[in-house]
Amino acid sequence: MKESAPRIITLDEFILRSEKAHSASTGELSGLLRDIGVAAKIINREVNKAGLVNILGIDGSENQSGDQVQKLDLYANDRMIEFLQNSGECCGLASEELPDILPVKGIDGKSSKYVVLFDPLDGSSNIDVNVSIGTIFSIFRRRSPIHAPCQLEDFLQRGVDQVAAGYVIYGTSTMIVYTTGQGVNGFTLDPSIGEFCLSHRDIKIPARGPCYSVNQGYFRMFDEEIRRYIDRCADQQLGLRYIGSMVADIHRTLFQGGIFLYPGTQKHPQGKLRLLYECNPMAFVVEQAGGRAITTGLERIMEREATALHQRETIVAGSPDMVEDMATFVRGFRPAHAS
Ligand code: AHG
Ligand code: MN
Ligand code: MN
Repeated sequence: MKESAPRIITLDEFILRSEKAHSASTGELSGLLRDIGVAAKIINREVNKAGLVNILGIDGSENQSGDQVQKLDLYANDRMIEFLQNSGECCGLASEELPDILPVKGIDGKSSKYVVLFDPLDGSSNIDVNVSIGTIFSIFRRRSPIHAPCQLEDFLQRGVDQVAAGYVIYGTSTMIVYTTGQGVNGFTLDPSIGEFCLSHRDIKIPARGPCYSVNQGYFRMFDEEIRRYIDRCADQQLGLRYIGSMVADIHRTLFQGGIFLYPGTQKHPQGKLRLLYECNPMAFVVEQAGGRAITTGLERIMEREATALHQRETIVAGSPDMVEDMATFVRGFRPAHAS
C-alpha cells in the first residue's frame, strides 16, 4: 500500500499547539513568535534580492520608485520594529542597531508583559558576498509594573530568565530555530507556499563534533591559554570552519557538533559579540539542545549580569564534551602559568 505523505506542520500551527499545551498561556508569546516569523519572511525576501543591488540600486541611491535604497541591516531593523510595534504583543524593544530601548505603546489599552531584544541582521559583512546571514531574537518577561512604560531594567536581565529565544538563518534554505525552554525546534521556509514548516523536531547537538570555529586570523591577539587551546584543537586534527556569521557558525555547530569561540582580542578585550542580542539567545538555544555556552572566563553565559544594553561578552559554545574539555584545559593551564 502506498504510504501517505507526512502531514506538514507549519510554524503557526506548532506555536498554537504549544500554546494550548499550557493552560496559563495568554497567547501573547505565541503572537510575538508569529510576528517574528512574518518579519523573517519579509527580511528573507529582501535578503534574496541582495545580489540584484546593482540593478535595483546601491545602498543610499534611489530605486526606480524613487525610494531610498536602504542598507540591509537597517531594512531588517525597521521591519522587526514595524512588526513588533504593530502587534501590540510586547511593551518594548531593544536592537543592536538602536542606541536605546524603544518603549512600545499597548494597542486598545492592552499592556504586554514581554520585551524583545534582537540583532536584526547578523553577519552583515557577508551580505555582499552571498554568504549566510541571520536574525537573532531574545524575549524576556518585563520586571517593571505592567501598566507603565517599560524600563531599562526589563532588558538588563540574565539569560537564564529568557522566556524564548532563537534565530533565523538565511542560508541555502531559510530556517527559523527557536526554544521556549522545552527543547529546540527548527522550521524550514517552503518558498512555494510561503510557510515555515517543521523540519527539525527536538534538535539535539552531538556530544562532540569534527570542527572548531574561531577567527584564526586573530590568533596572536588571544590570551595565551586560548592560543594553546587552539593549538590543541589543531593537534587533535579537528577541522577549522569559520563563516563569520555567528548564526551560521552556531547553526552548523548545532547540527554537526563542534565548538565555536569568540575570545577577547586587543581590539575587543571583552569579546566582540553582544551579550543581550547574540550570546544569550544563542546560549539558550545551544543549552536547550544539550550543549553548553560559557565565557572564556569559564562562567555560564546565561548567568552573566547585564549592566549595559550593548555589553560585549566572550563566548565558547557548542558540543557539551568539547566545551567541558576546553574548560578543563584552561583551568589546568592557569595555575601552571600563574606568575
Ligand atoms: P553583526 O553583523 O551583527 O555586527 O555581527 C557580526 C558578528 C558575528 O556574526 C560574527 O560571529 C562576528 O561578528 C565575526 O567577527 P569577525 O569578523 O571579527 O570574526
Ligand atoms: Mn551580530
Ligand atoms: Mn547585526
